[in-house]
Amino acid sequence: MNGDTHDYSRIYVAGAAGMLGEAVLAACSQHYEVEASDIAPRTDAMSFLDVADAELFAKAVDAFEPDLIVNLAAETDLELCEHDPERAWASNAVGAENGARIAERLGVPYVYISTAGIFGGDQEWYSDDDVPDPLTVYARSKLHGERFVQQHVRRHFVLRPGWMMGGGPDLDKKFVNKVYRQIRDGATTVRAVTDLLGSPTYTHDFARGLLLVARSGHYGTYNQVGGGTASRYDVALALVDDLGLSDQVEVVPVTSEYFAEAYFAPRPASEQLVNARLRERGLDVMRDWRVALEEYSEVFRRDLERHRRPR
Ligand SMILES: NC(=O)c1ccc[n+]([C@@H]2O[C@H](COP(=O)([O-])OP(=O)(O)OC[C@H]3O[C@@H](n4cnc5c(N)ncnc54)[C@H](OP(=O)(O)O)[C@@H]3O)[C@@H](O)[C@H]2O)c1
Repeated sequence: MNGDTHDYSRIYVAGAAGMLGEAVLAACSQHYEVEASDIAPRTDAMSFLDVADAELFAKAVDAFEPDLIVNLAAETDLELCEHDPERAWASNAVGAENGARIAERLGVPYVYISTAGIFGGDQEWYSDDDVPDPLTVYARSKLHGERFVQQHVRRHFVLRPGWMMGGGPDLDKKFVNKVYRQIRDGATTVRAVTDLLGSPTYTHDFARGLLLVARSGHYGTYNQVGGGTASRYDVALALVDDLGLSDQVEVVPVTSEYFAEAYFAPRPASEQLVNARLRERGLDVMRDWRVALEEYSEVFRRDLERHRRPR
């Protein structure tokens, strides 16, 4: 079956209320019947599900009878994971296992989202088969999930995004929105680190790629990140430029030492990935992060206009 094209009709999406969930639901709802759930449902159309609850997870999936299961559920706050490793393990590792067992029992493909953060950071770039060396509770819990899925689900797709960006002012929990909020609140100086490198990954590009890979029937593990090289400083500078504020907001380069107290979980010096396997198989739809951010910035430009309009 590996390599056959495969299409679906009913997709179960867990962890659908998050920043990636927004893009995945948008992509899936165009073509498929979708059941979406989350531990904190955002709309009435979403049901409640804690993926760590094996029985509830199985009941919900069985009732929907999907032909594809996509598990996006995770505790993604690195500091919270360090503070509460049990919660991190339940959502990220046990949740991954529960979904894997259900998929294997039903004989349907399973998509699990891992992370570029499983790598240790001593290489500048990481390819699909490089050896992981997780530095944090979050990364260890995600690596456990990825390995369990690889070992127990024959028809698995493990996809690794980099620094996620997407969801706009309301849903984006990560760096781009953290910078944006400072600007919206009137900051004229924003500090961003130069000594951490990563691969910014736009949720809408990632969701498009997810569906393409899942339809390809090429089961396996894939790096799937935006193209190009970036430090946090590069991303902040690009956002300020896209917002047309380069003459009003100064981006000041700092080292990660500056944020050591607030962001105490260790970050790899580099979590830049290469989508080598996707490219080999002709499945790489990821755009350069700079192009994707320019498109994504539009939602922040509109939001900023609304906030700055005199009332
Ligand atoms: N964000 C990133 O930078 C990043 C980078 C690499 C990989 N990833 C991976 O990408 C996937 C999607 O994450 P995201 O970026 O969309 O993050 P997100 O916005 O935090 O979304 C994750 C969603 O899962 C929910 N959730 C947490 N624990 C759950 C549980 N036990 N059962 C059901 N739902 C649960 C979260 O609810 P709460 O908000 O209430 O916790 C949230 O709605 C995750 O697997 C994540 O590990 C994310």
